[in-house]
Amino acid sequence: MKPKVFITRKIPAHLLKELQSVCDISIWDHEDTPVPRILLEEKIPDIDGLFCLLTEKIDADLLEKANNLKVVSNMAVGYNNIDVDAATKKGIIVTNTPGVLTETTADLTFALLMATARRIPEASEFLRDGKWNTWSPMLLTGQDIYNSTLGIIGMGRIGEALVRRAKGFNMNILYHNRKRKLDAEEELDIQYCPLDKLLKESDFICIMTPYTEETKNMIRKEHFKLMKDTAILINTARGGIVNEEDLYHALVSNEIWAAGVDVFEQEPVPRNHQLLTLPKVVALPHIGSASIATRIKMANVAVNNLIQALKGEIPDHIVNK
Ligand code: DGY
Repeated sequence: MKPKVFITRKIPAHLLKELQSVCDISIWDHEDTPVPRILLEEKIPDIDGLFCLLTEKIDADLLEKANNLKVVSNMAVGYNNIDVDAATKKGIIVTNTPGVLTETTADLTFALLMATARRIPEASEFLRDGKWNTWSPMLLTGQDIYNSTLGIIGMGRIGEALVRRAKGFNMNILYHNRKRKLDAEEELDIQYCPLDKLLKESDFICIMTPYTEETKNMIRKEHFKLMKDTAILINTARGGIVNEEDLYHALVSNEIWAAGVDVFEQEPVPRNHQLLTLPKVVALPHIGSASIATRIKMANVAVNNLIQALKGEIPDHIVNK
């Protein structure tokens, strides 16, 4: 008998076919609507494998209902949507998709940094709104990127890929990480510093750390007070790492200059969210890894992890400790 697998969103047809050849598949076959929790709860008792996205909360309550589940394959590198400890206790393997999205996410992070520094969305809207009357010396002026100091919080794969982009702009690079990375310091010519020093000295601060108990609410009121009043904060990691209320106040009181935000505490972010009222905020709908090629690679890695686990093999990307 084929193992039973539930897929929580439409995936590329060739990957669905591949899975169908080895598994008995049921799927929430929608592109833009997340699977209702109630359906997930209905499916979970009988399935052997779950293919899910970061939009699904795979918590202890849900996992408690699983009778045969062997693997939860998350199509994302981050897995803060999954209670990995609860899964581990039940002997359920949890997998993710690292590596394949590194360069694409670093591209988007640097694009957001540039768009925010040079006010690109605001300038484009200004033109389309018919407000462009004349060239003017200080019209829509922003911050320089070249020769500036970039502070990266979290020096994993994506952080390192961001460094390689920043080097092309002759940026001076500081980083803060749970552990010092001596190899990266030597190879990439970057300098480790305590968080306070990084916040004080950086022109751009990029959040690139995973969302964990330790990084939850990591950047808040007191941290904005340390930053330059010309500083730009970029977050393409996870919403809860930066306190949104404190970010809003730092922006309206001109403690910092602008922010580029691809991720929010609540996603989709409510349309009336206070950060969206500020032209100084460039806001995106969590598109860090959103290139066609990368999303297909992520789905592919997630399918492989799932099949490996169901065959009793150790998947390539397992996150249980
Ligand atoms: C991830 O993979 O964790 C991103 O947030 C989505 O690509």
